[in-house]
Amino acid sequence: MRFDPADRLAGELVPPPDKSISHRAAIVGAMSDGRVRIRGYLRSADTSATLEAVGALGARLVDAQPRGAGLDLELAGAGLRGADPGAEEIDVGNAGTLIRLLPGWLAGQPRGRWTLQGDESIARRPVDRIVHPLRRMGATVDCREGGLPPLVTEGSDLHGVEYELPVASAQVKSSVLLAGLLADDETTVIEPLPTRDHTEIMLRAAGVAITADGNRVTVSGERHIELGAVDVPGDFSSAAFFVAAATLVPGSEVRLRDVGVNPTRTGFLTVLERMGGDVQVERRDTAGGEPAGDLLVRAAELRGTTVERGEVPLTIDELPLVALLGAFAEGTTVVHGAEELRRKESDRVTTVVEGLRAAGARIEAAPDGFVVAGGGELQGGEIDAAGDHRIAMLGAIAGMASRAGVEVNGFEAAAVSYPTFADDLRGITRP
Ligand code: S3P
Repeated sequence: MRFDPADRLAGELVPPPDKSISHRAAIVGAMSDGRVRIRGYLRSADTSATLEAVGALGARLVDAQPRGAGLDLELAGAGLRGADPGAEEIDVGNAGTLIRLLPGWLAGQPRGRWTLQGDESIARRPVDRIVHPLRRMGATVDCREGGLPPLVTEGSDLHGVEYELPVASAQVKSSVLLAGLLADDETTVIEPLPTRDHTEIMLRAAGVAITADGNRVTVSGERHIELGAVDVPGDFSSAAFFVAAATLVPGSEVRLRDVGVNPTRTGFLTVLERMGGDVQVERRDTAGGEPAGDLLVRAAELRGTTVERGEVPLTIDELPLVALLGAFAEGTTVVHGAEELRRKESDRVTTVVEGLRAAGARIEAAPDGFVVAGGGELQGGEIDAAGDHRIAMLGAIAGMASRAGVEVNGFEAAAVSYPTFADDLRGITRP
């Protein structure tokens, strides 16, 4: 698909519901007793895989009504210890969050044995990071050599542990916390750096006595949980593409409505502010406890910045956009401490560097990030999405901000998180 230079971006847009929170709502909903109402569940390839998985495991979809880019769902949970042992094979598609979180629930079931696998990209993504802590809790869980899927888990009796995460990962933290609900005593996860806390917020909404004290999060075993109702705010990571576009295209002014602004997700705004960006946030809260708000974005002249390791987890999915902004900024932009980017849907250090270079950027890869020489514009060219939704959308924004446009090969990968991205972008583009 081709993305031509825009004269300016203007207008309003409601980005699609949050992917991370949607995955959690379906999984925690499936673990719940009784009916669960999810207002605004993301309609995408990734979150459909999660709905199918929890359906196969015994959660029943009672009702689904369209609501913008999402769905209002009513789910009848399977219960904390009620996962259906009949669903032996679970296809997670492209969803890293699903293959990391779901085993936390399954490992503590009274019976059953499940095999989880997905597409080509999933086959390259490490799952040993959850196998290790779950085994310490008494789980019967295994993966292929090299720490890769398929992942096989059998229901076992679990006990609580204190687990210090070797990598700052919300997915690993969440998997251990979900398993902790099935353990016979307390489970504490210690984080090296703060990561997104959507699981903690949702478990609290489900009545779990979860405590956070500095970098320690603790849960106890529960008999039942009940999520009741949850609102899914707009996805900050999807909104971030338009934040970048409106910042880069001169004369732009765009309002993004109902976006999740949980501070464990919005590191990109802090980085952008340091670069000279112009974003105003009007905040309010949603049901379920996730902060949300409107973002008013205006075009701005940027300067280079350095993103340090401590900021990486709060900015992780937006680092490709930091690279793009860096190409337009005055001076150099450096990202350190982001080796985790190499383990995403693609090796995002490589795919960002190759993609932006193909559009004319001067960018070098480092083992743990990249260095972008700014001061430029982008000429444009051809970018390969490499099967990665965020690289597909990065290519589109690079095209809008470029001089001659960008052809994105494999743009359809965007449907993993944002099926209506191209239409939404067109809706705020003034040619
Ligand atoms: C996610 C956590 C992050 C993020 C991913 C979604 C989540 O991954 O990159 O897109 O939903 O918990 P890690 O936990 O591997 O850092």
